[in-house]
Amino acid sequence: MIPPDPIAQDMLRLRAALRESLQGQLPADRDLRILNLACGRCDEAPTLLEVGRDLGAQAVEMVGADIRIREIRQAREQHAKLPASFLIEDATKLSAHRELGDDFGLVFLRHQNFWHGQELWKKIFDQGIAKLRPDGCLVITSYFDVEHRLALQALEAMGMEVISSRRQRGSRALKDAPGKSVDRWVAVLRRRQG
Ligand SMILES: C[S@@+](CC[C@H](N)C(=O)[O-])C[C@H]1O[C@@H](n2cnc3c(N)ncnc32)[C@H](O)[C@@H]1O
Repeated sequence: MIPPDPIAQDMLRLRAALRESLQGQLPADRDLRILNLACGRCDEAPTLLEVGRDLGAQAVEMVGADIRIREIRQAREQHAKLPASFLIEDATKLSAHRELGDDFGLVFLRHQNFWHGQELWKKIFDQGIAKLRPDGCLVITSYFDVEHRLALQALEAMGMEVISSRRQRGSRALKDAPGKSVDRWVAVLRRRQG
């Protein structure tokens, strides 16, 4: 028997978690732009596009960005047929990238790395928030509990409100890393009103 592909299983869980967390939260337009920051090789590209369609958007487009050249090249190769583009970009400097626009309905950061560089990640969060539509959602996922909590605190201090934050009970444990698992936490945030 062929063993189940762990990444495919992760994607099924991520899709279900995002559908549940984002139901009724995304801008109710026909089109959705997704900005995926620090996306690495972006295994989740098809999943994100599907979630956008599942939740009612007709045209869904994604822009992924990461500073690592090799991963972005892999993403470009792997997802050449998707409505997605991948930029080699320092996400702390997105404001210089005006043609990117600031009309993203969803800004997504999978496995943000706040624990390993709080000031750097505050800048990345700040740049991501600036690219959101006023009614858009920011989603982060985290590998471990403390990092997730610290990242949410930082985002709240930046004017974001936590709409939901869910622990994925079935998330795949990382080998040799107790307490860490894939998309262990999924949180949805919005700009605080008023
Ligand atoms: C923990 S990895 C997560 C990668 C991917 N999202 C995933 O879930 O597999 C953190 C990512 O942040 C990226 N990164 C770090 N600093 C960055 C920066 N200034 N601009 C863009 N990406 C950055 C790294 O290259 C790495 O791909």
